[in-house]
This record gives sequence, structure tokens and C-alpha cells, in this order.
Amino acid sequence: MIKLAAMRAELVPALDSLLALKLRQDVPAADLQAAMTYSVMAGGKRIRPLLLLAVVQTFQADLIPQSLPAAAAIELIHTYSLIHDDLPAMDNDDLRRGHATNHKKFGEAMAILAGDGLQPLAFQWLSDCRFNDTIKIKLVHELAFGAGPLNMVAGQVADMQGEQRTLTLDELKALHQRKTGALLKASLLMGAVISGIDEKRTTALSDFADHLGLAFQIKDDILDVTSTAAQLGKPVHQDQAANKNTYPSLLGLDGARSALTAELDSARHALDPLVASTDISLLAEFLTELAN
Ligand code: IPE
Ligand code: IPE
Ligand code: MG
Ligand code: MG
Ligand code: MG
Repeated sequence: MIKLAAMRAELVPALDSLLALKLRQDVPAADLQAAMTYSVMAGGKRIRPLLLLAVVQTFQADLIPQSLPAAAAIELIHTYSLIHDDLPAMDNDDLRRGHATNHKKFGEAMAILAGDGLQPLAFQWLSDCRFNDTIKIKLVHELAFGAGPLNMVAGQVADMQGEQRTLTLDELKALHQRKTGALLKASLLMGAVISGIDEKRTTALSDFADHLGLAFQIKDDILDVTSTAAQLGKPVHQDQAANKNTYPSLLGLDGARSALTAELDSARHALDPLVASTDISLLAEFLTELAN
């Protein structure tokens, strides 16, 4: 099985070229194109597209080229969520992906509109994918479900309202699963839809996604405490300043690290039903990266 580093080296440049090209083609209004492109091309880790592509690589590798636009669509949704997350009315941050945040560069109105533009464009790209209509409907559903008011948006609401009170651990877990876990899960399940894997394998992947998604946000919380702005390309120590509920704020740093390890272990075990028939090494590498 190909290594994650090799997949990243090959597919992230391909994904980035596709994103830049399609944004140029599909957004003729120059100012809007500039604002949308600025944040999409600012250089994120591209973990969500890579998760989709890793599932396809694992189960149906010949479909990788056709899968790139679907992977790119997820990055549009994710980037919109970051632009809006950084707005003064939300987390009020000035730095993102190592650059001034969208509203700092283009003004609040244009930042809101850039996010507004990215959202439907993601679904336009999905509906234009080179898959049959049944698959495309399922892809649209997974992305809308993960990013929508049942999940990511509900999580962002809980995150904002949580600034006013201390949540229980169960409430925080649900918040993190919605605001961050759900889009990561959608990415994995979109890979499952494209690969056409059976229900049993999809269930294992879905369990894996639940734990990986939560682990990702626990790690994000930890890095806000332990990292530097230069390392992350975004401001640090913002969660405590904004009175956010986070794993370190509720459990302390050691407790948060233990929770991260536990989620990564559970994610690895969720793949057990696949091991006999499938090389899970590429998927497992995402866990190793989150552990370090
Ligand atoms: C940041 O996501 C926001 C969260 C949901 C935690 P990423 O850590 O994936 O950010 P980029 O895409 O690499 O900038
Ligand atoms: C962001 O969570 C989640 C979404 C954008 C949906 P955070 O607010 O923790 O992300 P960062 O730390 O600003 O990247
Ligand atoms: Mg936030
Ligand atoms: Mg934020
Ligand atoms: Mg954060």
C-alpha cells in the first residue's frame, strides 16, 4: 500500500491545481474570485480531501483521478467554515494558514460573501463529478449532512453558546463531534460511497471516523495550548481567552492527551473488522500522525 507521505506528495499538488483552475473558471467576478481563492489556496493541510482519497486508494484505487473534484469540494466547505469561524462575530481571529484572515484582507462583507460563494460551489462541483447519478446524490447528501445544521453548523452554535457556560464532558464531546468530527466523517464516507464498499465495511469506516473526528478536534484544542502561531499559522491561546470549552480546559493538558490517545486507540480498533480482507495501513497512518 502507498504511504501517506507519497500520496500527499502526489495528490496535494494535483488537488491544488484543480482548486485554482476551477475557481478561476467558475467565479468570473474578479473581487469575489480573489477573496475565495485567497483562503482556499492559502495552504491548509488538506486532511479532509486526503481522507476521502485514502479510502478510495484503499478500496478502489483506479477511481482516484475521478475522485479529485469531490475531494476538492470538501475543501471548499472546510475553507468557508474557517473564513466564517474567524469573523469578529465568531472567534475574531487575525491569522489563518499563515496569512491575514479573509476579513482582515478583504473586509467583513466580502469575507461573508466569499464563504457564501464557497458553499454552493462545493455542491455544484459534486453534481458535475464524473460518477453516476446515484453516487452523486449520495455524495451530496453526505457533505450536506456533515456540514449542515445537524452537524457542523450545530457544533459551531454550541461552541459559541458554550462561551457563556461550562459544558459537561459529554456535551463537549458532542460539540466536537459536530463542529469538526462530522466533516471528517463525511470525507471518509464519501470515499466509501465512491468505492462502493458494502455495508459491513462502511460501518467499520463510520466507527473509525467517529473516533478520528473527535481525536482531530482534541488535538486542535491541545495545540492551541502547546504550540506557537508560527507552527500553526493561526493564533494560539485563543480558546482560553475566548472562554471556550475545550478538552484541556475541562480535563487539563494531561487529561486531554489521554483522551486523544484513547480516541486514537478506539479508531484503530474500529478497523479490526477490515483487517482480514483489507490493507488498512494508509488509514492507520492518519492516526499515527495525530498521535505525534
Ligand atoms: C482547523 O482545521 C479547524 C478545525 C476544524 C479544527 P484544520 O486543522 O484542518 O485546518 P487547515 O485546513 O489545515 O488550515
Ligand atoms: C473550528 O473550530 C471549527 C469549524 C471551523 C467548523 P476552531 O475554532 O477550534 O478552529 P480554529 O482553532 O480556529 O482553527
Ligand atoms: Mg471556532
Ligand atoms: Mg476558531
Ligand atoms: Mg481551535
